[in-house]
Amino acid sequence: MSQQSAETLNDIIQYRRSVKTGLFKPNESIPDEVIQQALINATWAPNHGKTEPWYFIVYTGEGIKKLCDFQAELYKSESGDKFNEAKYQKLKEDYQKASHVIAICMKREGFSKIPEIEDMCAVACAVQNLALSLHAYGYGGYWTTGGITYYASAKSFFDLGEQDRLMGFYLCGVPLSMPAASQRKPLADKVNWVTG
Ligand SMILES: Cc1cc2nc3c(=O)[nH]c(=O)nc-3n(C[C@H](O)[C@H](O)[C@H](O)COP(=O)(O)O)c2cc1C
Repeated sequence: MSQQSAETLNDIIQYRRSVKTGLFKPNESIPDEVIQQALINATWAPNHGKTEPWYFIVYTGEGIKKLCDFQAELYKSESGDKFNEAKYQKLKEDYQKASHVIAICMKREGFSKIPEIEDMCAVACAVQNLALSLHAYGYGGYWTTGGITYYASAKSFFDLGEQDRLMGFYLCGVPLSMPAASQRKPLADKVNWVTG
């Protein structure tokens, strides 16, 4: 690997931004081949015990509509007195602005000795590979944990068992523009070097 590859990687990492649905170009799609490559890269994430705990479901076209109808109706049936019409409509419509929606899942092996948190960390590493890959190809998206992410009653729709988890959705799209530069706290606030 060269100095040039390292600098390219620095740029990809530091210029990636979460691109939300309002910034997706309407009616423009990411090629399926790019999504496929980003998912291949996702599966090269580190994982303890070779559990490869990630499981992704890619929704596109009518598939996104089916997902939206499911999540809106599940929200309606579970929200009781807290039902909010605007939230219902958002669940029904917002993801349809995306080119692809990827359900981010963690599947646990039957009697895995690996602590659950480590499988969740591995899935998060995979999602970062996915995000960086999309950015490298000039596309965007973001991870959302809103909506029905934490509803136990949602699991069967995603073919998940009791021990498995839905960890949110990666909404992918063609950016109209990149969001304004983001900020990070100074490195010194977050890193302590011990040298002696
Ligand atoms: C696990 C996880 C869950 C997230 N959930 C949401 C969410 O529900 N809604 C949202 O708007 N952004 C969500 N985000 C995206 C963050 O808002 C975003 O990463 C943060 O604002 C930093 O911006 P950047 O990604 O452009 O650096 C999530 C990010 C992570 C890692």
